[in-house]
Amino acid sequence: KPSFSDYFGKLGGIPMYKKFIEQFHNVEEFEARPDDLVIVTYPKSGTTWLSEIICMIYNNGDVEKCKEDVIFNRVPYLECSTEHVMNGVKQLNEMASPRIVKSHLPVKLLPVSFWEKNCKIIYLSRNAKDVVVSYYFFILMVTAIPDPDSFQDFVEKFMDGEVPYGSWFEHTKSWWEKSKNPQVLFLFYEDMKENIRKEVMKLLEFLGRKASDELVDKIIKHTSFQEMKNNPSTNYTTLPDEVMNQKVSPFMRKGDVGDWKNHFTVALNEKFDMHYEQQMKGSTLKFRTKI
Ligand code: PPS
Repeated sequence: KPSFSDYFGKLGGIPMYKKFIEQFHNVEEFEARPDDLVIVTYPKSGTTWLSEIICMIYNNGDVEKCKEDVIFNRVPYLECSTEHVMNGVKQLNEMASPRIVKSHLPVKLLPVSFWEKNCKIIYLSRNAKDVVVSYYFFILMVTAIPDPDSFQDFVEKFMDGEVPYGSWFEHTKSWWEKSKNPQVLFLFYEDMKENIRKEVMKLLEFLGRKASDELVDKIIKHTSFQEMKNNPSTNYTTLPDEVMNQKVSPFMRKGDVGDWKNHFTVALNEKFDMHYEQQMKGSTLKFRTKI
């Protein structure tokens, strides 16, 4: 197995899977369509949850339609290019409109075509500490990615931006700045956990769709953590163990706010808080980190 650092190269200065870098020219040249909707997140921020909500909206609450295919075919992962499992650009090129696109790219790497075509973009953000915990368990279970030495070691790398997709701080701050553009809707995972109805209503409005109580109820029920954990079209269990070994840690792991408290030591938390303050200084983004 290659070491954790060997597995990554740099794309515009940002650590990225070498496999994705090899095919990135296809992403740069990607041709958006005006009715594309792009879901952007830093990894492990609730992408799958938001994707399923949008699918339900697009299918007018028809659960069976959403279950017809797995989430990574219904919402292709733009920059993903692996030999066997997914190739975002290819999937999207072959897809009928309207398309829903998943991406983890930072602002500066998102294909310009999405801006030129004035596509709607939804950025979902999640507090850094829960992200780093979720990311750590994800890397342990994705078979091909070499494991970090320890949780502490991974958190250090995360703080230094030496993990795939780079610095959470840069990613979040720059998308926050971009959200001044009415094309971009900025949401928080914690808000979704606190009041999902309110956030679904926000999404419906942003997408210019009518919100009936019946539709909103259906969406909320079908996209609860428990429903999605038990649903093979959303829980990634259709992938073989050679790709994701969910015996190590399930994709639908906990879905909680504040799980970081079970993993950070007091010392690590202090170090993280100091780093957080430094990195986020000057940004108007006020994140509810201490939840
Ligand atoms: S990925 O691989 O980057 O696309 O992962 P992503 O989907 O962004 O994030 C996975 C985390 O989101 C949690 N999740 C949910 N939380 C609440 N409700 C629902 N329905 C839901 N679906 C997924 C998932 O459990 C991961 O978080 P952790 O903290 O690891 O449980």
